[in-house]
Amino acid sequence: MKYAVLGQPVDHSQSPRIHALFAAQFGAELSFEKIEVAPEALVETLKRLHAEGYGGLSITLPHKLAVIAQCGSVAERATIAGAVNVLIRTESGWNGDNTDGEGFMRDLARLNFEIAGKRVLLLGAGGAARGVLKPLLDAKPAELTLSNRNPWKPEELAEQFKAYGRLRPCTHLALKGDRFDVVVNATSVGHTGTFLKLPGQIVAAGGVCYDLSYGEAFKPFEAWARSQKAARIADGVGMLVEQASSSFALWRGQRPQTPAVIEALRA
Ligand code: ATR
Repeated sequence: MKYAVLGQPVDHSQSPRIHALFAAQFGAELSFEKIEVAPEALVETLKRLHAEGYGGLSITLPHKLAVIAQCGSVAERATIAGAVNVLIRTESGWNGDNTDGEGFMRDLARLNFEIAGKRVLLLGAGGAARGVLKPLLDAKPAELTLSNRNPWKPEELAEQFKAYGRLRPCTHLALKGDRFDVVVNATSVGHTGTFLKLPGQIVAAGGVCYDLSYGEAFKPFEAWARSQKAARIADGVGMLVEQASSSFALWRGQRPQTPAVIEALRA
């Protein structure tokens, strides 16, 4: 069976490597390509890859939203996340799903970062934040604060997600005086080589910090978390591998082990 990751750019994608390592765990080999797709070529490309017999597709930026309209059906969690990151082949077309939230929660479990009963802060209110909101609320934190530069976005998300739990919307500056047991960075600010301006000490004693980004983009958050004396700090490599493992399981009905693959990616 053939698989591929679609994005623009897509050159940097680790998906082929991750899925090759997964397949090897089952003594299998699979073809996994990177396919650069411009937005205007998305519809035609999805049709062509289906006709050519591809078994599944990973979807990355900037197509995670646009692909929804091309799906025969979309899993509820993907609709709630507002994005599709994986397509599963059916006879008539593609089913859309989203494994980012599941991958995030699996990685937190792997790290023993607990959410239940904890004071949790989610930084950012874009697509990445939206993707982890429902899984976080489902894990029953004592409180979930959502802070963002643009003050309207957390307000909107609090309204949209109120059926799943309570969310406290605020700006980064309004965090002054608060303490959190878990801080999750879902902003893209690290890609600029700097981090947010946050007020003073906000990580509680023994608190942990998690970044959805990895690589160079993780470094500014890591430096901030160190300055906060966070007990543990994690980047998003684990989430990347976990979401891929969940996608692999949807495609092939077998769930790969992740720890060795996470290690291989870091090496
Ligand atoms: P993604 O899909 O990665 O979440 P996005 O939807 O563009 O991308 O959202 C980016 C997030 O990073 C937003 O929360 C954004 O804050 P705003 O909503 O205020 O724009 C945040 N972000 C990006 N650059 C930032 C910066 N320089 N300072 C503060 N926040 C930033």
